[in-house]
Amino acid sequence: MEETAIHEFDFALINEYFVGLERQGPGSPEATIRALSFIGNLSDESKIADLGCGTGGQTMVLAQNTRGTITALDLFPGSIDKLNASAEKLGLRNRVNGIVGSMDNLPFQNDELDLIWSEGAIDNIGFEKGLNYWRSFLRKGGFLAVTNASWFTDERPTEIEKFWLEASPEIGTIGHDISVMQKAGYVPVAAFTLSENCWTDNYYIPQKIRQEEFLNKYADNKTAEAFIAYMRHEADLYAKYKQYYGYVFYIGEKI
Ligand SMILES: C[S@@+](CC[C@H](N)C(=O)[O-])C[C@H]1O[C@@H](n2cnc3c(N)ncnc32)[C@H](O)[C@@H]1O
Repeated sequence: MEETAIHEFDFALINEYFVGLERQGPGSPEATIRALSFIGNLSDESKIADLGCGTGGQTMVLAQNTRGTITALDLFPGSIDKLNASAEKLGLRNRVNGIVGSMDNLPFQNDELDLIWSEGAIDNIGFEKGLNYWRSFLRKGGFLAVTNASWFTDERPTEIEKFWLEASPEIGTIGHDISVMQKAGYVPVAAFTLSENCWTDNYYIPQKIRQEEFLNKYADNKTAEAFIAYMRHEADLYAKYKQYYGYVFYIGEKI
């Protein structure tokens, strides 16, 4: 039987599922703060963009650990509403503005930004394309920090290779992704892998309750059932093959 790739499910359905979760991708406050530790020269005047921000899990951590203003952008209005409400609640609304938009059509000026952040989202437009396109909005000496799924080994079992090539066709090894970053005009400053709890405790485990809620709400809806089956399959594959792949934080400086 042919497997369905995640991008073949209904966009509204995927978003409704994910907006009910604190995070929409693997990650953690510790990883966000560790990536920030490689970035210098931020001030009250700094302009930061968080692209594919989702409901803003990492945006709030960024805001609490930097100065300057953050524009957080996502395609899905429901996530942006939730992000702006969280910023309000945390007293960060004067520095954090969530806007609806697409990461391949950014509303910034050339050389305007000091830092571009993006966790788990760049592959929606492609790692290489995103790095190249986003670079023009960064000032010289500005930084980019993104997480992206990468292979940890040169070879891996066919089952996991096939799954990820369908979900994220550009997936490469860490060495490959660093060289893509360098070719796109950044000095690679750091790269580190995200720990297992970023995938389990912060991503797959919270989904278990969400999946039950979703299946109850969409009883007998074949698309919803197939989507939940896909998400469960993805989590099972992670448990089976986590030594072969994971998210990597890539940090680069524009030259
Ligand atoms: C895996 S989630 C990551 C969300 C969040 N950064 C996190 O780590 O929790 C990917 C996000 O990218 C957003 N997205 C997908 N395509 C996009 C596009 N073209 N422009 C802006 N956002 C997009 C999705 O709506 C989703 O919120």
